[in-house]
Amino acid sequence: MIIIGFESSCDETGVALVCTERGLLAHALHSQIAMHQEYGGVVPELASRDHIRRVLPLTRQVLQQAGVKADQIGAVAYTAGPGLAGALLVGASVAQSFAWARGLPAIPIHHLEGHLLSPLLASPRPGFPFVALLVSGGHTQIMRVDGVGNYQLLGETLDDAAGEAFDKTAKLMGLGYPGGPALSRLAQQGDASVYDLPRPMLHSRDLDFSFSGLKTAVLTRVKNIEKDCGQLSEQQRADLAAATEAAIVDVLAAKSIKAMKQTGLKRLVVAGGVGANSHLRAKLVQAMSKLGGEVFFPPLEFCTDNGAMIAFAAAMRVNAELVDLSDMRHAFTVKPRWELHDVCVDS
Ligand SMILES: Nc1ncnc2c1ncn2[C@@H]1O[C@H](COP(=O)(O)OP(=O)(O)OP(=O)(O)O)[C@@H](O)[C@H]1O
Ligand SMILES: [Mg+2]
Repeated sequence: MIIIGFESSCDETGVALVCTERGLLAHALHSQIAMHQEYGGVVPELASRDHIRRVLPLTRQVLQQAGVKADQIGAVAYTAGPGLAGALLVGASVAQSFAWARGLPAIPIHHLEGHLLSPLLASPRPGFPFVALLVSGGHTQIMRVDGVGNYQLLGETLDDAAGEAFDKTAKLMGLGYPGGPALSRLAQQGDASVYDLPRPMLHSRDLDFSFSGLKTAVLTRVKNIEKDCGQLSEQQRADLAAATEAAIVDVLAAKSIKAMKQTGLKRLVVAGGVGANSHLRAKLVQAMSKLGGEVFFPPLEFCTDNGAMIAFAAAMRVNAELVDLSDMRHAFTVKPRWELHDVCVDS
């Protein structure tokens, strides 16, 4: 069965076609980063309006790319939450209208389930069970994943997400939005040992995180440097970027390793935008090889939001017989706040 998937939860419009037997057929993405950049962050109303402009051209693009006709599609998937309400409504209403017009079932997908299963789009594909480190702009969670719809939360951030920590500290250093990639690029020219930054909750017994103190520590460093030297020099900015990246990566890696030891599992899967960070990737590859395990990442283009992970999560749910394909009701709602536990098989 061919499934078309729509993602519009934040600032990326994504559309994709996935076949339940053959996998990903085509995907297309429009990122709104350039539009939001001048405001230093996502403007929800602008995001919604842009999704409206992009979604149909992207739909035509994936159909053409895959050589698939609309009447070959068997189901329609969309991100139903969590995310920005107005932005979610665009994808949800387009998907539901498409499904209603063609007499197809519509499958609401939890955005984090999309991220969580996205490493399975890679080859080789990790088998279940695995530990997942989900590190995105809004979430930092460690989960035990025993199968589709079988997710157990082991730990999460108590305040800021890892992506948010990258974005906020980058902003303090005068870097653009989104901060993660910019900070990471700058860090390549820096020396992480110049500034000693805290590793919040590194030694706590649990698998939880806290990143808001790190942001304050970076702010204090910036203010001290400015007091002593006026403005931050390029080298000071690079050194501070490297120290910030090292602090975040150290905590993420240490907690992931702790989760591997605690669960006794040998496969670690990393998902979400921060999973694109090359320093994090290198550190986890090294740590997992020491442990005699393996680490899997989504292809880089599927780390941040995309339609492929939504269509793919729907396909996995269909294959696991977790979807009622005979349900043709098309009344819908979106859930800007939505716990992943609600889509677990035991919920
Ligand atoms: N190379 C990188 N290094 C560090 N952080 C990065 C990198 N690339 C992207 N990010 C961060 O990833 C985040 C975006 O990821 P993603 O699109 O998965 O999050 P989101 O969709 O905004 O959040 P959520 O999925 O929790 O709602 C941003 O915070 C961004 O700064
Ligand atoms: Mg996301």
